Amino acid sequence: MLRVRSLSTLPGNFDAFQEEVAAILERLYGAKSAGEYRQNARRAMAANLAHPQVRALALLDGKTTAGITIAMLREGFAEIFFVHLLKAYQGRGFETRLLRDTLAMLHAENVRGILCECVIPEGMDIGTTLITGGLHPVPRQLMVADLDAAPMHAPVLLPVRPLAPTDSGSVAHCIVEAYRAQDAPPLHLEVQSLPNALDFLGRLQQGAYGPVKPGFQQVLYSGDRCAGAVLGCEVAPDTGFVLQLVVAPEFQGRGYAKALLHALATVYREAGYRRMALGVTCDNPALRLYEKLGFRVIQPVTAYVWWQAGMNRGLASAAGPP
Ligand SMILES: CC(C)(COP(=O)(O)OP(=O)(O)OC[C@H]1O[C@@H](n2cnc3c(N)ncnc32)[C@H](O)[C@@H]1OP(=O)(O)O)[C@@H](O)C(=O)NCCC(=O)NCCS
Repeated sequence: MLRVRSLSTLPGNFDAFQEEVAAILERLYGAKSAGEYRQNARRAMAANLAHPQVRALALLDGKTTAGITIAMLREGFAEIFFVHLLKAYQGRGFETRLLRDTLAMLHAENVRGILCECVIPEGMDIGTTLITGGLHPVPRQLMVADLDAAPMHAPVLLPVRPLAPTDSGSVAHCIVEAYRAQDAPPLHLEVQSLPNALDFLGRLQQGAYGPVKPGFQQVLYSGDRCAGAVLGCEVAPDTGFVLQLVVAPEFQGRGYAKALLHALATVYREAGYRRMALGVTCDNPALRLYEKLGFRVIQPVTAYVWWQAGMNRGLASAAGPP
């Protein structure tokens, strides 16, 4: 008989989770990435579980932990960023119980929105339970491009420059404006308001999303206004990630996004990276831009999102939490 308990310290069989997650990372980003994960996973996971804003559940089979979910609470929103059921327990529907309890736990915290976006093992089905629980599926994909390939090499003729500390307000404004003009409702908290965008920039620069070096955030200004920005961090030892790419609506269609990506590609090459990766929603027109630059899909990822009624255009469930 399996039961669910809250989790605040590393489970005794954490090594089994570490090995299965390392195998997923190896498939996505190569052996170096898996090696680095193995070195840091215990410390990083222990720090996550001890974080006051983190809520984690374990599915227990006797004393053995069979599955784990971890969510971060921020500004009344919850992001489920880790979901893993060990291989030995996959294919038997055990994820249903774990995810149902995870949603109940988050609703008990009175969250106004929930996002679940993670790469999960192939043998798990999280969609059925999350959709039944009121979350909306958003098909996305993880893409990667070779930094040495021809489309990634182009002279940057526009005045793209590294982000300076004084740019934060203007860049945050550009992020919010760019997403407000989009047809699709925004998925991530950081693009929905100025304070959230500023908070995101602060955490990005502190390394919350991955290691950052000077130049990993590039901006393009028109006078004293930020017209566009690309914001990156390291995702694997030889791979730089594009966390955010925005161009303010009135500057779109002039090649600014392309120039920003070329500038970041140059910085990443100089930092010794071989590849650049990103995540994109499948119906985002930006997909065409990425394909032209040589990005290819390495992993389809469905994100699941729920917003309290009135919290986000289009995706809110009028009925509220089930
Ligand atoms: C996506 C975005 C950054 C593109 O900015 P942009 O400066 O207009 O893009 P560019 O002018 O550099 O376009 C470069 C290429 O991509 C293609 N492209 C860009 N936006 C496109 C769109 N909406 N529809 C079709 N193609 C598009 C263009 O055809 C262009 O190709 P070309 O050079 O062969 O003509 C901008 O629309 C934006 O900020 N959107 C909202 C935020 C967002 O969705 N960001 C991406 C998150 S993954």
